[in-house]
Amino acid sequence: MQPRRPLQRTLRNAGFVCAMALTAGTSLAVSAPVVPARPWMNAALSPDQRADALVKAMTQDEKFRLIRTEYGAIFNGQPKPAGSKDVAGYIPALPRLGLPAIHETDAGQGVARPAAFGDGDTALPAGLAAAASFDPPLARDGGVMIGREAHRMGFSVLLAGGVDLARDPRNGRNFEYAGEDPLLAGTIVGAAIRGIQSQHVVSTVKHYALNDLETGRNTLSANIGHTAARESDLLAFEIAIADGQPGAVMCSYNRVNSVYACENDWLLNQVLKRDWKYPGFVMSDWGAVHSAAQSALAGLDQESAGERFDKEVYFDQPLRGAVARGEVPQARIDDMVHRVLRAFFAVGAFEHPAAEAPIDYAADARVSQRAAEAGMVLLRNEQGALPLDKDSGAVAIIGSHADVGVTTGGGSSAVKPRGGSPVTGVEPSTWPGPKMYQRSSPMQAIGQRNGGKVAYAGGEDIAAAAKLAAQSKVAIVFAEQWVAESMDVPTMRLPGNQDALIAAVAKANPHTIVVLETNGPVQMPWLDQVQGVVEAWYPGAAGGEAIARVLFGEVEPSARLPLTWPKDESQLPRPTIPGAGLAAIGMPPQGQPQQDIDYDIEGADVGYRWFQKKHLQPLFPFGYGLGYTTFRYGAPTVHTSRGQVTATVRVSNTGKRTGVAVPQLYVTPPGADTRRLAGWQRVTLAPGQSREVTIAASPVRLASWDPTSHGWQRAAGSYRFELGASATDIAGKVETTLPAAHCTLAACTPTTP
Ligand code: NOJ
Repeated sequence: MQPRRPLQRTLRNAGFVCAMALTAGTSLAVSAPVVPARPWMNAALSPDQRADALVKAMTQDEKFRLIRTEYGAIFNGQPKPAGSKDVAGYIPALPRLGLPAIHETDAGQGVARPAAFGDGDTALPAGLAAAASFDPPLARDGGVMIGREAHRMGFSVLLAGGVDLARDPRNGRNFEYAGEDPLLAGTIVGAAIRGIQSQHVVSTVKHYALNDLETGRNTLSANIGHTAARESDLLAFEIAIADGQPGAVMCSYNRVNSVYACENDWLLNQVLKRDWKYPGFVMSDWGAVHSAAQSALAGLDQESAGERFDKEVYFDQPLRGAVARGEVPQARIDDMVHRVLRAFFAVGAFEHPAAEAPIDYAADARVSQRAAEAGMVLLRNEQGALPLDKDSGAVAIIGSHADVGVTTGGGSSAVKPRGGSPVTGVEPSTWPGPKMYQRSSPMQAIGQRNGGKVAYAGGEDIAAAAKLAAQSKVAIVFAEQWVAESMDVPTMRLPGNQDALIAAVAKANPHTIVVLETNGPVQMPWLDQVQGVVEAWYPGAAGGEAIARVLFGEVEPSARLPLTWPKDESQLPRPTIPGAGLAAIGMPPQGQPQQDIDYDIEGADVGYRWFQKKHLQPLFPFGYGLGYTTFRYGAPTVHTSRGQVTATVRVSNTGKRTGVAVPQLYVTPPGADTRRLAGWQRVTLAPGQSREVTIAASPVRLASWDPTSHGWQRAAGSYRFELGASATDIAGKVETTLPAAHCTLAACTPTTP
């Protein structure tokens, strides 16, 4: 006789079929369930146990259905698969097993959907803004918000979690990522992933790895030594994965040391799955698969939309053939399926399947606004030009359609604004566009604060803009740089006539403020002529309101640069990128050259470390950002307890307003010639207030990757700890001798007694 099982368990195991029978009014007292028991629906089991049970119950066809997605949207006039939600990736439901359909949607700033699918969603500000906040809990809140929207639209996977390092300000996807420092980027992206997955949506850290430029991304080989890679780009992934535990990793288009990332045994099998013990699945980028057996054996678990983007669907007939010939063991197929299923079990997607439900867009816009406010970096503020007050007089608003909205980036991640873009008829209209603006007007928000004394000039007519500026008390020029996936920008200069526009406006009105809506650093030949500069990145769904609140001091500017701001391209490891500015597909001009890229030039010395090594002065250093108050730092002290190093420093607010200090701890290991960010804190202080701030040093930042012992080793010797307001503004330092130790992300264990 069958033992009696609790009713709830029986219902869960019976899955959807039974649930439907109940809805239809079937009596609970009826006989045996109509489907076989489903042990994998037992949430008391671990995700691995559940995945094991389900893999055992699957046919080979069902397994092969889970290791490839189809493109879920209309493509070049070809219809989308029946049942798909018009998204990037789709796997139909497997009702026999109670598996809901899988719908994968882009991306990191929110749910991006093809225009065909209804109204838009809530866009967070750029990933760089999240990084600039230096505030992991806030990044998590953003993740929660976009994860919840995705879940309530029926999407089970967000292709979100971009963490490639910003090695070059011209990279067309920097706005999707989190800056140049592996600790900061990994921590912020890990927090966002945690937020997304708290909503039962699988998050996808990407693009693994070294997809740090877009020019030639489908062919180029990113060449770099293993140690340098481990200490830079891979470390960002390692931290994001450890903190966020994303269900999926997306391998990138490019080759790494000659081998395509999606068939790269070193990247996938050795580093990701063996060394980092990653239990989730590796999905390919769209069009990044070039083989069946080699990819499967190297560690790729799922091919994305191969029928549209790869030469053939490698993970169907070709891979079945390879299994039949014994080239790929059946166990590998089972492992792929296990990994995919495990990811969904781990986020509770079976208990809480994504389903359409109402969304509180007003609340979500507030989340986006908070993120934008916390991400804006005040770069310059001469003679107290900011904050403005309501009596500052008439304000000229100039350029970038700031009368109606704020700029976004382009490509697959672009979030269609609710109500559509307020600016139409701008180029490009095709991929990687259309160029869109978020529907949040800085002019309106400023007008609401100064009694409506605002007037707008588009900026195309420089003389007209200068005239308006001359007639106003304050001129605010909004300068934009639209960039997009699949191309880099040709130079660090603002496009079009914007440099000349700013110079002319500044000449007409000494009280000129520039608000940048850019992908990151641009040249500023006019810097000395303007009183204020705010980097607002792409500020998202409530960007206009957030900009106004920062300008009027309703919120303290508290963000810091997550990347170095070079004066110009000559300071970069690669002053020229052949083909930058050319598109891969879509908008003209096309024709990106095929070439490899040498990342060993800077190796792990990315960003501020390159500048230090080469004794270069940037325009603004990593970690820099002003507020409306000032701080003083005391002398730091360093303590070691059970292998954990912490630094303590007294921070005082010496100004007249409450503000947020972001003391940063840098470490220079013995024999090293560049410092590394090892930790930071955010501390809010009232005028005159001072506080002791303790910052834990990331164990792995004190160590170096040692290829011989195949681990992170901290050498014995004297370590320099520096406390500062940026990577170059060092307020105090202290030297400490540390013993040799073996380190992980979590702790260092001394290797000598
Ligand atoms: C290609 C992009 O590189 C990737 O980030 C995106 O998730 C996929 N396309 C799907 O749209």
